[in-house]
Amino acid sequence: MSAAFSANAGPTDAELAKMKLQYQRPETVPFPKDNPFSQAKVDLGHKLFFDPRLSGTSTMSCASCHNPGLSWGDGLATGVGSAANKLGRRSPTILNLAWAESLMWDGRAGSLEEQATGPIEAKVEMNQSMPRLLTTLGDIPGYRAAFQVAFPGEPISAKTIAKAIATFERTVVSGQAPFDRWIEGDEKAIDDAAKRGFVTFNTKANCSACHSGWRFTDDSFHDIGLTDGDLGKGKLVPGVEPLLHAFKTPGLRNIAGRAPYMHNGSVTTMATVVRHYSDGFVQRPSLSPEVYKLKLTENEIHDLVAFLKTLTSTDATIAVPVLPISEVN
Ligand code: HEC
Ligand code: HEC
Repeated sequence: MSAAFSANAGPTDAELAKMKLQYQRPETVPFPKDNPFSQAKVDLGHKLFFDPRLSGTSTMSCASCHNPGLSWGDGLATGVGSAANKLGRRSPTILNLAWAESLMWDGRAGSLEEQATGPIEAKVEMNQSMPRLLTTLGDIPGYRAAFQVAFPGEPISAKTIAKAIATFERTVVSGQAPFDRWIEGDEKAIDDAAKRGFVTFNTKANCSACHSGWRFTDDSFHDIGLTDGDLGKGKLVPGVEPLLHAFKTPGLRNIAGRAPYMHNGSVTTMATVVRHYSDGFVQRPSLSPEVYKLKLTENEIHDLVAFLKTLTSTDATIAVPVLPISEVN
């Protein structure tokens, strides 16, 4: 038994080893059969993701709201779209979505391909018309060539745009974090507070009931008792009580770079998140049965935050791509 755990409350070595096993990183990234990996698609999708010409006013790209420097979010409480439109929800990260079972805070998109063209055409987001975008891209020789290589014999279309962006997004994976080095056996990778925090996360604090697996999400929807009028999944599936105020469990990888937290950006620090679960939530019929008063001590709160911090990797920064230039007439 490691000295990191107090004598009577800590898990045995075997129990701890079993806990760690659930969080091992997968070796490969999954790609769907109808849109397999190719480097040409990744390169094209990378350009499209960063290209403001995808928006109606050529001022906003996907990366405006999913910024690699802000852990692929935007650092704002809720997104700001075309013409300074304030969006209803926070811009989530696009990290590790290759494994996601559904997308958006309420799960309304089933795949990255299905999601990709939504924000381009949404008036409140990029406010672009698809026919106009197809003409714009078709007029740029660099894009004509890139689409030809990525999708030989296929036209530039909403479908090929979506496939390229989705393929790029699947390659956006969080890197090795101190936590990963610890579960692989490097005892010095994280400190004792973080090790105690990991155990609390999996036991008394019950976080792992929903933040499970290597991405720290069950890909499911829960009401955790935040107070706002957004009904989340309950708006899509009316009449099902547990779905009222239910949102998708966010993954916790690289979480330190993504404040403010929650679907509405209402919680500003990791310590406040933990205090929310301890006793800050509202009681209502839709509240998840996995959320209950935890009665955490100040030390436990400190340890949980120390643990959450070890989930953040120092990823190599993804370069802003060189964009194909428009033809000068
Ligand atoms: C104006 C800001 C903004 C822009 C521009 C934008 N997004 Fe988003 N994105 C959001 C917000 C806000 C959500 C969450 C909306 C919701 O769940 O209701 C979101 C959700 C997503 C998701 C789902 C993530 C998850 O965890 O479920 C993906 C994927 C995504 N966007 C990709 C893109 C792509 C690709 C583009 C460019 C074509 C783009 N976004 C442009 C703000 C933006
Ligand atoms: C009942 C399932 C459930 C439990 C238990 C749970 N969470 Fe969550 N967690 C969620 C959901 C769902 C959200 C998003 C809620 C929202 O935005 O409305 C969330 C959000 C978060 C966020 C913010 C992530 C972001 O990107 O905004 C953090 C951090 C977090 N939880 C950590 C924890 C910790 C630490 C514990 C244990 C003390 C815990 N969670 C227990 C389901 C759960």
